[in-house]
Amino acid sequence: MADKKLSGAGLRGQSAGETKLCTVGKSGSGLTYCGYDVSDLADNATFEEVAYLLFNGELPNQAQLDAYIAELKGMRDLPEDLKSVLKLIPKDAHPMDVMRTGASFLGNLEPEVDFADQNRAANRLLAAFPAIMTYWYRYSHEGVEIACTTEEDSIGGHFLALLTGKTPSELHRKVMDVSLILYAEHEFNASTFTARVCASTLSDLFSCITGAIGSLRGPLHGGANEAAMEMIQKFSSPEDAKIQMAGMLERKEKIMGFGHAIYRESDPRNVIIKKWSKLLSEEYGDSSLYDISVACEEYMWDTKKLFCNADFFHASAYFFMGIPTKLFTPIFVCSRLTGWAAHVMEQRDNNRIIRPSADYTGSEPRSVNPIAERG
Ligand SMILES: CC(C)(COP(=O)(O)OP(=O)(O)OC[C@H]1O[C@@H](n2cnc3c(N)ncnc32)[C@H](O)[C@@H]1OP(=O)(O)O)[C@@H](O)C(=O)NCCC(=O)NCCS
Repeated sequence: MADKKLSGAGLRGQSAGETKLCTVGKSGSGLTYCGYDVSDLADNATFEEVAYLLFNGELPNQAQLDAYIAELKGMRDLPEDLKSVLKLIPKDAHPMDVMRTGASFLGNLEPEVDFADQNRAANRLLAAFPAIMTYWYRYSHEGVEIACTTEEDSIGGHFLALLTGKTPSELHRKVMDVSLILYAEHEFNASTFTARVCASTLSDLFSCITGAIGSLRGPLHGGANEAAMEMIQKFSSPEDAKIQMAGMLERKEKIMGFGHAIYRESDPRNVIIKKWSKLLSEEYGDSSLYDISVACEEYMWDTKKLFCNADFFHASAYFFMGIPTKLFTPIFVCSRLTGWAAHVMEQRDNNRIIRPSADYTGSEPRSVNPIAERG
């Protein structure tokens, strides 16, 4: 086998197409959506504004935003048949399998009629995903059949209200909103590329999103925030974190929540979510998990020059908000759906089927021996 880095394995550094949606590691803080820096969006916009931006290319004005929020709020409830399917999924199912089934089954009940229907289909998924996740979770774990609508205007607030059955605090609403913005879009990452490949066959939006969820499920992509949470919960103190991480590195284990395929020195999303995690830790009244996370960050940088990616401080932030670890990656779905759907729309606008070639490394041409003569 050729050296992975020299052979271009993982298509690293190779352009696989054009996009107007996003730059990664190029300008501003390192991440832009439609020309806006992610830190500017996190400070000055809401997730609904970002969703509108990705689907329409421009930020909405107030009237457009009000209409968009009203439209999304009106699309939140789940069909009874979907609720029945969610009730059948066992408690120990992987929550990403629940999201995959939810997206796919909704596509059976309310298929995308044609490409002119793509915005409705994308908005329907955006509005329905928080309920798909929490309806299954609360039914299978608590035996409760929740109502799938709330009065919350924001998708982040709506999710928290569905999960807890309570009105979320302003701080929690704000952090969920920022988190959804940070995860919304990231150029040709594995799950988005999956969606684009599927779209390039002129398939329907629900198939593109279902496939993307499958790619996001893997621990090297979306699953890293859950793995980071499991890791930091095992550390009893900042000192213990450093000792245990040294052992992990010696055993050549991957430390989840660190490193990135494109960013080389830092992930611009980290500084933003880290700030909110600190504020949450103060509200929570016990900052030990935050302090342990900071120790991990310092240790990895000092020893390996590896930096936290978006997932690492998301782990403690979600923990402080009382979100069960198994729902971390499904929240990523609720957000990244916007990027996926925007890429599907962009692919359809100027489509050619994506069909790369491979460098053949198999045997020389040969002919089939009669079976009795084979060793
Ligand atoms: C994101 C990731 C898949 C990128 O992989 P990649 O592009 O192959 O990474 P790089 O080429 O920068 O890796 C350089 C070296 O650092 C090591 N490295 C990278 N991330 C590491 C991590 N989190 N822990 C330990 N070592 C790591 C690699 O093993 C590699 O070592 P090698 O040269 O001995 O093979 C990788 O960093 C990783 O697995 N991180 C953990 C999972 C994660 O947090 N994913 C979420 C991404 S947003």
